[in-house]
Amino acid sequence: MQFVKLGSTGLDVSRICVGCMSFGLPDRGPHEWTLDEEASRPLIRQALEAGINFFDTANVYSDGTSEEIVGRALADFARREEIVLATKVNGSMHEGPNGHGLSRKAIMTEIDNSLRRLGTDYVDLYQIHRWDPTTPVEETMEALHDVVKAGKARYVGASSMYAWQFSKAQYTARLNGWTRFVSMQNHYNLLYREEEREMLPLCEDQGVGVLPWSPLARGRLTRDRDVTTARSRTDEFGKTLYRQGDDEIVDAVARIAADRGVPRARVALAWLLHQRAVTAPIVGATKPAHLDDAVAALDLELSEKEIEQLEQPYVPRAISGH
Ligand SMILES: NC(=O)c1ccc[n+]([C@@H]2O[C@H](COP(=O)([O-])OP(=O)(O)OC[C@H]3O[C@@H](n4cnc5c(N)ncnc54)[C@H](OP(=O)(O)O)[C@@H]3O)[C@@H](O)[C@H]2O)c1
Repeated sequence: MQFVKLGSTGLDVSRICVGCMSFGLPDRGPHEWTLDEEASRPLIRQALEAGINFFDTANVYSDGTSEEIVGRALADFARREEIVLATKVNGSMHEGPNGHGLSRKAIMTEIDNSLRRLGTDYVDLYQIHRWDPTTPVEETMEALHDVVKAGKARYVGASSMYAWQFSKAQYTARLNGWTRFVSMQNHYNLLYREEEREMLPLCEDQGVGVLPWSPLARGRLTRDRDVTTARSRTDEFGKTLYRQGDDEIVDAVARIAADRGVPRARVALAWLLHQRAVTAPIVGATKPAHLDDAVAALDLELSEKEIEQLEQPYVPRAISGH
C-alpha cells in the first residue's frame, strides 16, 4: 500500500480511502442498496489486509448504522492507532428543531453520538458534510475547534461547497486562532470536473488534502449505460448527478481499459490518482473485486496520450453534489 500525508499534516493515510456509505442496514435511511453487517465485515477486513488504513463514514449513512458496523469491524480487525477514521456532521439525524446543521448544539450532540456508535474515544477526521447557510461560520468553526481541543477529533475537514465558502471558513479560523480544515472531500471524477476551476487550485495552494467522493461516478464509469445493478436502480441521489453527455467519456475509459486488458474501474481511478491535487479517492465497494481494482489502480501508469483521450470529451456542466 502507498501512504501519503493528508495535505500539510503529519498524518499518514493510504492512497485509497474506503467509502463506508456502502455499509449499513438497507432498511435504515434512504440507501436500499447498502450491505448489512454480515456482508460488510469481509470487505472491511479485506481492505485492512490490503494495507488500507483510511475509512470514511458519516452520521447520516444508513441512519447511523454505517458507523456502528464500521466501528465494530475496526475494533475486531484493526489496531486503532494505525487507523484513520473519518466521519461527518450536518445531515438530518432527527425531525424537528436542531436535528441537522452546523450549530454549536448540533455539532456537540452529533460528535458524541458518532463516537458512541463508532465505539471509540476519538475520530481522526471530523468533517462538515456541507456548508450550513443558516449558522454563522464563526459558531461552526469555534465548535469544531472545541471538539478538537476536547480530544474528540484529531483533525477537521470539509465537504462539497463553493471555494469562497471554504476560504471564508479557513480565514475565520485563522483570524481567531481556531483549528483549520486539513481536507476537502469533494465530488470529482471523469464525469464531473468542475472542481478543477477553483476548489482544486485553492486546496493545492493552501496545502489542503483532497479526497474525491464518488470517484467512479457511482459505478457509471465502470460499465455501459444499459447495464444496471441493485445500486444503480435505487441510488436516487446518484440519478441526479450524471445525465446526458457522459457516454463519450465512458467509451474512452472502456477503450483504454480494453487496450490494456484491465477493468474500467482501474483506468478511471488511475486518472484521478494522476491528478496532482488528489490525496486519496474514497472508493465505494460492494464486492471484493471492487477493492482489488482500487488497489491495483495505484500501479496503473497512464500515458499523456491516454490522459488526453480521457479528458478531451468533457464539457463543462452545472454544479452538482453540493
Ligand atoms: N461527502 C459527500 O457528500 C459524499 C457523497 C457521496 C459519497 N461520499 C463518500 O464517498 C464514498 C464513495 O462513494 P460512491 O460509493 O458513490 O463511490 P464510487 O466509487 O464512485 O461508486 C461505487 C460503486 O461503483 C461500482 N464499482 C466500484 N468499484 C467497481 C469496480 N471495480 N468494478 C465495477 N464497478 C465498481 C459499484 O457499483 P454497484 O454497487 O452498482 O456494483 C459501487 O457501489 C462513500 O462511501 C462515502 O464515504 C461522500
